[in-house]
Amino acid sequence: MSIKNSNDVVIFGLENSWELAQKISKYINIEVSPIQKITFADGEKLLYSDLTVRNKSVFIICNTSKPVNDNLMELLIFIDSLKRASAKDINVVITYYGYARQDRKAAGRQPISARLVADLLQTAGASKIIAIDLHNPSIQGFFNIPVDDLRGQFIFGKELKNRKDKFVIVSPDHGGAVRARQLSELLQSDDEIAIIDKRRTGPNKSEIMGVLGNVAGKNVVIYDDIIDTGGTILHAVQALKEQGAKKIIVAATHGLFSKGFDMFENDNNVTEVIVTDSTNLKNTQNYKKLRILSLDEFLGKVIEANINKTSITEVYNDYIRQKK
Ligand code: R5P
Repeated sequence: MSIKNSNDVVIFGLENSWELAQKISKYINIEVSPIQKITFADGEKLLYSDLTVRNKSVFIICNTSKPVNDNLMELLIFIDSLKRASAKDINVVITYYGYARQDRKAAGRQPISARLVADLLQTAGASKIIAIDLHNPSIQGFFNIPVDDLRGQFIFGKELKNRKDKFVIVSPDHGGAVRARQLSELLQSDDEIAIIDKRRTGPNKSEIMGVLGNVAGKNVVIYDDIIDTGGTILHAVQALKEQGAKKIIVAATHGLFSKGFDMFENDNNVTEVIVTDSTNLKNTQNYKKLRILSLDEFLGKVIEANINKTSITEVYNDYIRQKK
Protein backbone atom coordinates (compact mmCIF):
# COMPACT_ATOMS: atom_id res chain seq x y z
CA MET A 1 0.00 0.00 0.00
CA SER A 2 1.32 3.46 -0.69
CA ILE A 3 0.18 6.31 1.47
CA LYS A 4 1.13 9.79 0.36
CA ASN A 5 2.74 12.08 2.96
CA SER A 6 2.48 9.42 5.66
CA ASN A 7 4.46 11.63 8.07
CA ASP A 8 1.42 13.84 8.28
CA VAL A 9 -0.81 10.94 9.36
CA VAL A 10 -1.17 9.52 12.88
CA ILE A 11 -3.02 6.28 13.67
CA PHE A 12 -4.39 5.48 17.11
CA GLY A 13 -6.18 2.40 18.44
CA LEU A 14 -8.36 2.64 21.54
CA GLU A 15 -7.95 -0.25 23.96
CA ASN A 16 -10.83 -2.45 22.75
CA SER A 17 -9.74 -1.98 19.11
CA TRP A 18 -6.04 -2.35 19.76
CA GLU A 19 -5.59 -5.63 17.88
CA LEU A 20 -7.45 -4.44 14.81
CA ALA A 21 -5.47 -1.17 14.84
CA GLN A 22 -2.22 -3.16 14.86
CA LYS A 23 -3.37 -5.22 11.89
CA ILE A 24 -4.48 -2.15 9.92
CA SER A 25 -1.17 -0.47 10.67
CA LYS A 26 0.65 -3.35 8.94
CA TYR A 27 -1.41 -2.78 5.79
CA ILE A 28 -0.84 0.93 5.63
CA ASN A 29 2.73 0.87 6.95
CA ILE A 30 2.11 3.46 9.62
CA GLU A 31 2.78 2.50 13.23
CA VAL A 32 0.02 2.83 15.81
CA SER A 33 0.89 5.76 18.09
CA PRO A 34 0.77 5.36 21.87
CA ILE A 35 -2.06 6.74 23.99
CA GLN A 36 -1.67 7.66 27.65
CA LYS A 37 -4.64 6.44 29.66
CA ILE A 38 -5.19 7.13 33.33
CA THR A 39 -8.14 5.90 35.40
CA PHE A 40 -8.82 7.88 38.56
CA ALA A 41 -10.08 6.41 41.83
CA ASP A 42 -13.67 7.41 41.08
CA GLY A 43 -13.60 5.87 37.59
CA GLU A 44 -12.98 9.07 35.61
CA LYS A 45 -10.69 8.61 32.60
CA LEU A 46 -7.96 10.78 31.10
CA LEU A 47 -6.63 9.96 27.63
CA TYR A 48 -4.15 11.82 25.47
CA SER A 49 -1.54 11.25 22.80
CA ASP A 50 2.07 10.68 23.82
CA LEU A 51 3.33 12.40 20.66
CA THR A 52 2.45 15.63 18.93
CA VAL A 53 -0.53 15.66 16.54
CA ARG A 54 -0.18 19.34 15.63
CA ASN A 55 -1.50 19.89 12.13
CA LYS A 56 -1.67 16.14 11.42
CA SER A 57 -4.46 13.99 10.05
CA VAL A 58 -5.48 11.59 12.77
CA PHE A 59 -7.33 8.26 12.44
CA ILE A 60 -8.74 6.67 15.62
CA ILE A 61 -9.61 2.98 15.32
CA CYS A 62 -12.31 2.35 17.92
CA ASN A 63 -15.62 0.66 18.65
CA THR A 64 -18.23 1.36 21.28
CA SER A 65 -19.38 -2.18 21.98
CA LYS A 66 -19.70 -3.36 25.56
CA PRO A 67 -19.13 -1.76 27.96
CA VAL A 68 -20.80 0.77 25.66
CA ASN A 69 -20.82 3.75 27.98
CA ASP A 70 -17.19 3.43 29.11
CA ASN A 71 -15.94 2.97 25.57
CA LEU A 72 -17.99 5.88 24.29
CA MET A 73 -16.75 8.18 27.03
CA GLU A 74 -13.12 7.19 26.39
CA LEU A 75 -13.57 7.95 22.72
CA LEU A 76 -15.12 11.37 23.39
CA ILE A 77 -12.39 12.33 25.84
CA PHE A 78 -9.67 11.25 23.42
CA ILE A 79 -11.21 13.16 20.51
CA ASP A 80 -11.42 16.25 22.73
CA SER A 81 -7.73 15.91 23.63
CA LEU A 82 -6.74 15.71 19.95
CA LYS A 83 -8.85 18.74 19.04
CA ARG A 84 -7.20 20.77 21.80
CA ALA A 85 -3.77 19.53 20.65
CA SER A 86 -4.39 21.13 17.21
CA ALA A 87 -4.87 18.00 15.08
CA LYS A 88 -5.66 19.04 11.51
CA ASP A 89 -8.54 16.59 11.14
CA ILE A 90 -9.88 13.81 13.34
CA ASN A 91 -11.18 10.76 11.49
CA VAL A 92 -13.12 8.42 13.76
CA VAL A 93 -13.04 4.86 12.41
CA ILE A 94 -15.84 3.51 14.58
CA THR A 95 -16.24 -0.14 13.65
CA TYR A 96 -19.24 -0.66 15.95
CA TYR A 97 -21.53 2.27 16.80
CA GLY A 98 -23.20 1.62 20.15
CA TYR A 99 -26.75 3.01 20.52
CA ALA A 100 -27.32 2.75 16.74
CA ARG A 101 -30.47 0.72 17.39
CA GLN A 102 -32.05 3.70 19.18
CA ASP A 103 -32.39 5.52 15.87
CA ARG A 104 -35.99 6.76 16.21
CA LYS A 105 -38.73 7.24 18.77
CA ALA A 106 -40.07 3.68 18.71
CA ALA A 107 -42.68 4.64 21.32
CA GLY A 108 -43.89 7.84 22.94
CA ARG A 109 -41.39 9.73 25.16
CA GLN A 110 -38.40 7.61 24.07
CA PRO A 111 -35.02 9.22 23.24
CA ILE A 112 -33.12 9.04 19.93
CA SER A 113 -29.83 8.04 21.44
CA ALA A 114 -28.10 7.37 18.10
CA ARG A 115 -28.57 11.09 17.33
CA LEU A 116 -27.30 12.07 20.77
CA VAL A 117 -24.12 10.03 20.17
CA ALA A 118 -23.69 11.76 16.80
CA ASP A 119 -23.98 15.16 18.49
CA LEU A 120 -21.47 14.15 21.16
CA LEU A 121 -18.92 12.94 18.59
CA GLN A 122 -19.20 16.18 16.64
CA THR A 123 -19.06 18.38 19.73
CA ALA A 124 -15.96 16.51 20.90
CA GLY A 125 -14.25 17.40 17.60
CA ALA A 126 -14.68 14.57 15.08
CA SER A 127 -14.26 15.85 11.53
CA LYS A 128 -15.18 12.62 9.76
CA ILE A 129 -16.83 9.31 10.68
CA ILE A 130 -15.89 6.03 9.03
CA ALA A 131 -18.38 3.37 10.17
CA ILE A 132 -19.34 -0.05 8.92
CA ASP A 133 -22.90 -1.31 8.65
CA LEU A 134 -24.58 1.32 10.79
CA HIS A 135 -27.74 -0.36 12.05
CA ASN A 136 -29.73 2.20 10.08
CA PRO A 137 -27.88 3.94 7.21
CA SER A 138 -30.01 7.05 7.91
CA ILE A 139 -27.80 7.65 10.94
CA GLN A 140 -25.44 9.26 8.41
CA GLY A 141 -27.90 12.14 8.34
CA PHE A 142 -27.56 12.67 12.11
CA PHE A 143 -24.13 14.18 11.38
CA ASN A 144 -23.16 17.44 9.74
CA ILE A 145 -19.73 16.06 8.92
CA PRO A 146 -18.93 13.46 6.24
CA VAL A 147 -19.80 9.86 7.09
CA ASP A 148 -18.51 6.85 5.17
CA ASP A 149 -20.94 4.07 6.14
CA LEU A 150 -19.05 1.13 4.65
CA ARG A 151 -20.95 -1.88 3.33
CA GLY A 152 -20.15 -5.14 5.12
CA GLN A 153 -21.65 -7.09 2.21
CA PHE A 154 -18.28 -6.81 0.48
CA ILE A 155 -16.53 -8.57 3.36
CA PHE A 156 -19.04 -11.42 3.39
CA GLY A 157 -19.35 -11.47 -0.40
CA LYS A 158 -15.63 -12.04 -0.73
CA GLU A 159 -15.77 -14.82 1.87
CA LEU A 160 -18.79 -16.66 0.42
CA LYS A 161 -18.38 -16.25 -3.31
CA ASN A 162 -15.59 -18.79 -3.67
CA ARG A 163 -17.31 -21.51 -1.68
CA LYS A 164 -18.62 -24.52 -3.56
CA ASP A 165 -22.05 -24.31 -1.91
CA LYS A 166 -24.65 -21.90 -3.26
CA PHE A 167 -26.83 -20.11 -0.74
CA VAL A 168 -30.18 -18.42 -0.37
CA ILE A 169 -29.57 -15.23 1.63
CA VAL A 170 -32.07 -14.76 4.44
CA SER A 171 -32.80 -11.56 6.31
CA PRO A 172 -33.81 -12.31 9.91
CA ASP A 173 -36.26 -9.37 9.87
CA HIS A 174 -37.92 -6.92 7.48
CA GLY A 175 -35.41 -4.19 8.34
CA GLY A 176 -32.49 -6.20 6.94
CA ALA A 177 -34.08 -7.06 3.58
CA VAL A 178 -32.09 -4.52 1.54
CA ARG A 179 -28.86 -5.64 3.14
CA ALA A 180 -29.68 -9.29 2.33
CA ARG A 181 -30.59 -8.44 -1.26
CA GLN A 182 -27.30 -6.60 -1.78
CA LEU A 183 -25.34 -9.61 -0.53
CA SER A 184 -27.39 -11.92 -2.74
CA GLU A 185 -26.65 -9.70 -5.75
CA LEU A 186 -22.94 -9.64 -4.99
CA LEU A 187 -23.00 -13.44 -4.94
CA GLN A 188 -24.94 -13.42 -8.22
CA SER A 189 -27.37 -15.87 -6.69
CA ASP A 190 -30.13 -17.22 -8.96
CA ASP A 191 -32.41 -17.52 -5.94
CA GLU A 192 -34.64 -14.87 -4.44
CA ILE A 193 -33.82 -13.84 -0.89
CA ALA A 194 -36.02 -14.99 2.00
CA ILE A 195 -37.22 -12.80 4.86
CA ILE A 196 -38.18 -13.84 8.36
CA ASP A 197 -41.32 -12.18 9.62
CA LYS A 198 -40.06 -11.18 13.09
CA ARG A 199 -41.96 -9.25 15.72
CA ARG A 200 -40.29 -7.55 18.71
CA THR A 201 -42.13 -8.49 21.90
CA GLY A 202 -39.93 -6.53 24.35
CA PRO A 203 -36.33 -5.42 24.93
CA ASN A 204 -34.05 -8.21 23.59
CA LYS A 205 -37.11 -10.42 22.93
CA SER A 206 -38.66 -11.41 19.61
CA GLU A 207 -41.00 -13.95 18.08
CA ILE A 208 -41.27 -15.35 14.55
CA MET A 209 -44.51 -15.15 12.60
CA GLY A 210 -43.34 -16.93 9.45
CA VAL A 211 -40.81 -17.19 6.61
CA LEU A 212 -41.36 -15.31 3.35
CA GLY A 213 -39.61 -17.08 0.47
CA ASN A 214 -38.52 -20.56 -0.46
CA VAL A 215 -35.76 -22.24 1.54
CA ALA A 216 -36.84 -25.88 1.31
CA GLY A 217 -33.87 -28.06 0.33
CA LYS A 218 -31.57 -24.99 0.09
CA ASN A 219 -28.39 -23.99 1.89
CA VAL A 220 -28.98 -20.65 3.55
CA VAL A 221 -27.01 -17.75 5.00
CA ILE A 222 -28.87 -15.74 7.61
CA TYR A 223 -27.40 -12.28 7.25
CA ASP A 224 -27.79 -9.66 10.00
CA ASP A 225 -25.92 -6.57 11.14
CA ILE A 226 -25.75 -7.40 14.85
CA ILE A 227 -25.83 -10.54 16.96
CA ASP A 228 -26.54 -9.38 20.50
CA THR A 229 -28.28 -11.94 22.73
CA GLY A 230 -28.52 -14.35 19.78
CA GLY A 231 -32.32 -14.66 20.15
CA THR A 232 -33.14 -13.25 16.70
CA ILE A 233 -30.77 -15.61 14.94
CA LEU A 234 -31.63 -18.77 16.86
CA HIS A 235 -35.35 -18.21 16.33
CA ALA A 236 -34.61 -17.74 12.63
CA VAL A 237 -32.54 -20.94 12.55
CA GLN A 238 -35.43 -22.90 14.03
CA ALA A 239 -37.96 -21.43 11.61
CA LEU A 240 -35.72 -22.13 8.60
CA LYS A 241 -35.12 -25.70 9.70
CA GLU A 242 -38.88 -26.20 10.03
CA GLN A 243 -39.23 -24.92 6.45
CA GLY A 244 -36.73 -27.56 5.25
CA ALA A 245 -33.48 -25.55 4.94
CA LYS A 246 -30.34 -27.71 4.61
CA LYS A 247 -27.05 -26.17 5.75
CA ILE A 248 -27.52 -23.00 7.83
CA ILE A 249 -24.70 -20.46 8.05
CA VAL A 250 -25.05 -17.31 10.13
CA ALA A 251 -23.27 -14.13 9.06
CA ALA A 252 -23.32 -10.82 10.93
CA THR A 253 -21.01 -7.83 10.85
CA HIS A 254 -21.04 -7.14 14.58
CA GLY A 255 -20.78 -10.05 17.02
CA LEU A 256 -21.66 -8.78 20.50
CA PHE A 257 -22.57 -12.21 21.88
CA SER A 258 -23.91 -10.69 25.11
CA LYS A 259 -25.02 -14.16 26.27
CA GLY A 260 -21.89 -15.95 25.03
CA PHE A 261 -21.26 -18.16 22.00
CA ASP A 262 -22.08 -21.58 23.49
CA MET A 263 -25.70 -21.40 22.29
CA PHE A 264 -24.45 -21.38 18.69
CA GLU A 265 -21.65 -23.90 19.20
CA ASN A 266 -24.14 -26.33 20.75
CA ASP A 267 -26.94 -25.85 18.21
CA ASN A 268 -26.85 -28.78 15.78
CA ASN A 269 -28.73 -26.78 13.16
CA VAL A 270 -26.01 -24.10 12.94
CA THR A 271 -23.08 -25.05 10.69
CA GLU A 272 -20.99 -21.92 11.09
CA VAL A 273 -21.19 -18.36 12.43
CA ILE A 274 -19.18 -15.72 10.57
CA VAL A 275 -18.60 -12.26 12.07
CA THR A 276 -15.98 -9.53 11.68
CA ASP A 277 -13.55 -8.13 14.22
CA SER A 278 -15.58 -4.90 14.45
CA THR A 279 -15.95 -5.70 18.15
CA ASN A 280 -13.36 -7.08 20.52
CA LEU A 281 -14.00 -10.84 20.65
CA LYS A 282 -11.95 -12.21 23.51
CA ASN A 283 -11.57 -15.87 24.50
CA THR A 284 -13.33 -17.27 21.46
CA GLN A 285 -10.43 -19.18 19.93
CA ASN A 286 -11.73 -22.59 21.07
CA TYR A 287 -15.06 -22.32 19.30
CA LYS A 288 -15.08 -24.50 16.19
CA LYS A 289 -18.12 -22.90 14.57
CA LEU A 290 -16.96 -19.30 14.92
CA ARG A 291 -15.12 -17.68 12.03
CA ILE A 292 -13.90 -14.10 12.45
CA LEU A 293 -13.11 -12.13 9.30
CA SER A 294 -10.73 -9.26 9.88
CA LEU A 295 -11.60 -5.80 8.62
CA ASP A 296 -7.89 -4.97 8.47
CA GLU A 297 -7.34 -5.00 4.71
CA PHE A 298 -10.69 -3.39 3.90
CA LEU A 299 -10.27 -0.56 6.40
CA GLY A 300 -6.62 -0.19 5.42
CA LYS A 301 -7.71 0.46 1.85
CA VAL A 302 -10.43 2.86 3.00
CA ILE A 303 -7.96 4.82 5.16
CA GLU A 304 -5.53 4.88 2.25
CA ALA A 305 -8.28 6.22 -0.05
CA ASN A 306 -9.10 8.95 2.47
CA ILE A 307 -5.50 10.04 2.76
CA ASN A 308 -4.72 9.78 -0.95
CA LYS A 309 -8.08 11.42 -1.82
CA THR A 310 -9.26 8.55 -4.00
CA SER A 311 -12.63 6.85 -4.39
CA ILE A 312 -14.17 4.42 -1.89
CA THR A 313 -16.25 2.91 -4.72
CA GLU A 314 -12.98 1.79 -6.27
CA VAL A 315 -12.03 0.16 -2.97
CA TYR A 316 -15.27 -1.86 -3.08
CA ASN A 317 -14.70 -2.91 -6.67
CA ASP A 318 -11.10 -3.96 -6.09
CA TYR A 319 -12.00 -5.79 -2.93
CA ILE A 320 -14.73 -7.96 -4.40
CA ARG A 321 -12.68 -8.77 -7.51
CA GLN A 322 -9.89 -10.25 -5.41
CA LYS A 323 -9.71 -13.98 -4.89
CA LYS A 324 -9.56 -15.17 -1.28
C1 R5P B 1 -32.29 -5.69 15.03
O1 R5P B 1 -33.00 -4.98 14.33
C2 R5P B 1 -30.88 -6.02 14.67
O2 R5P B 1 -30.69 -5.96 13.29
C3 R5P B 1 -30.50 -7.40 15.20
O3 R5P B 1 -31.33 -8.36 14.57
C4 R5P B 1 -30.68 -7.47 16.69
O4 R5P B 1 -30.07 -6.41 17.32
C5 R5P B 1 -30.14 -8.79 17.22
O5 R5P B 1 -30.36 -8.83 18.59
P1 R5P B 1 -30.45 -10.20 19.38
O6 R5P B 1 -29.24 -11.02 19.00
O7 R5P B 1 -30.44 -9.80 20.83
O8 R5P B 1 -31.73 -10.87 19.00
